Amino acid sequence: GVYSFEDSPFIMEILTELRDENTGPIAFRKGLVKLGRYMAYEITKTMETERIKIKTPLEETDGILIADRRNVVIITVLRAAIPLMEGLIKVLDHARVGIVSASRGKAPKFEIEMKYVKVPQITEKDTVIIADPMIATGSTLIKVLDEVKKYGKAKRYVIVGVLAAPEGISRIKEAHPDVEMFVAAIDRELNEKGYILPGLGDAGDRAFG
Ligand code: PRP
Repeated sequence: GVYSFEDSPFIMEILTELRDENTGPIAFRKGLVKLGRYMAYEITKTMETERIKIKTPLEETDGILIADRRNVVIITVLRAAIPLMEGLIKVLDHARVGIVSASRGKAPKFEIEMKYVKVPQITEKDTVIIADPMIATGSTLIKVLDEVKKYGKAKRYVIVGVLAAPEGISRIKEAHPDVEMFVAAIDRELNEKGYILPGLGDAGDRAFG
């Protein structure tokens, strides 16, 4: 499934700040960290839980454990996903982390080059979360998923982004039908350079200058 959070005022307020051209790199990075934290929180709502018994200092009572939270691999797509990953890991604190680079070539082919790939071994217990703020044509994530799937079969593959274009979502769904997507919002379209409209500009440049 594809989940977006247009009905969450708090996530929309963070997104508004990220979109605003007057937001500088410090606030932009902080916004991505915050968003990562809340997106991870939303993902935990879709994870399996176990009932457990614990003792308070006074008596025995029931509690829960989010078993899946213990088995998470976060894949960080350089470079704009770094602050997003920092937020995700605050909630998914047991996560193992993979780092990959993927740079997008020029229009019209937008060919993806992956020069750096460091991914931990993946097991069928794992929820693999791929963080990339912008899902434009989807080419980057298709390539990253092709690569990540070589490291083992996971229980779930979840993409976490800030903005997605409809084109990117359909292309990813077609290439990797087993993937779920969590994005703050789905935007209108791509321009001829492959930028999301209205978008927020180039997330890497806005975060890192
Ligand atoms: C941007 C963005 C995604 C990718 C999305 O990265 O962060 O990774 O483009 O485009 P796609 O869906 O059309 O493939 P960019 O190549 O600008 O690198 P950067 O993060 O280092 O700025």
